[in-house]
Amino acid sequence: MSKILIAYYSRAGENYFGGSMKFVDKGNTEYAAEIIARLTGGELFKIEQKTPYSDNYNECIKQAKSDQKNNLRPELVKYPDSIAEYDTIYLGYPNYWGTLPMAVFTFLERYDFSGKVIRPFCTHEGSGLGGSIGDICAAAPNAAVERGIAIRGSDAPGSEKALKQWI
Ligand SMILES: Cc1cc2nc3c(=O)[nH]c(=O)nc-3n(C[C@H](O)[C@H](O)[C@H](O)COP(=O)(O)O)c2cc1C
Repeated sequence: MSKILIAYYSRAGENYFGGSMKFVDKGNTEYAAEIIARLTGGELFKIEQKTPYSDNYNECIKQAKSDQKNNLRPELVKYPDSIAEYDTIYLGYPNYWGTLPMAVFTFLERYDFSGKVIRPFCTHEGSGLGGSIGDICAAAPNAAVERGIAIRGSDAPGSEKALKQWI
C-alpha cells in the first residue's frame, strides 16, 4: 500500500478575503489539507516556521517580502525524520507573490524526492498557481510533479467537491 503525506504551510491571523480584512483561527490552506487527509487517508504535516510571520497582515507582508527578497530559508519547528515511506506527497501552500512561502523551500530542499510524486495544491486571492509549479520542480528536481490545483482562499473550507475531482 502506498503511503500519502500531506505537507502544507498555512497562516492563521489577519488576512484579506475579497477585499476585506478578517481575523481567522485557521488558514485557508489548512482547510484544504484537512479535506485531502479525509479523502485520501494521508498523514498531515504542517510546515511551520520557528519564527512565524505576524498575525498582523501588514507586518506579515513586510516579513514575507523581506524573506523572499533575501531568498531566505526559514528554520522549521520540526521536520519529518524521513519521507522514505511516502510515495505521494500532497504539497499545500498559499500563493505568496506568485511563488511559495520561503519555508516551503526549506522543506523541499531538505529531502530527496526520487521516486516520489508531488501533487501541489495552492490557495490564493486571484493569482492561481502563479509560477509555483516551476519553482517546486526546481527545488525538488527528482520528484515527479503532477498537475496542481488552485483554490480561491475563501472557497477552501467548501472545496471538497473540487478536491475530490482533482484527487
Ligand atoms: C505575504 C502574502 C503574500 C500574498 N501574495 C499573493 C499573491 O501574490 N497572489 C495571490 O493571489 N494571493 C496572495 N496572497 C493571498 C494568499 O495567497 C491567500 O490569502 C491564501 O489563501 C492564504 O493561505 P493561508 O490562509 O493558508 O495562509 C498573499 C498573502 C500573503 C499573506
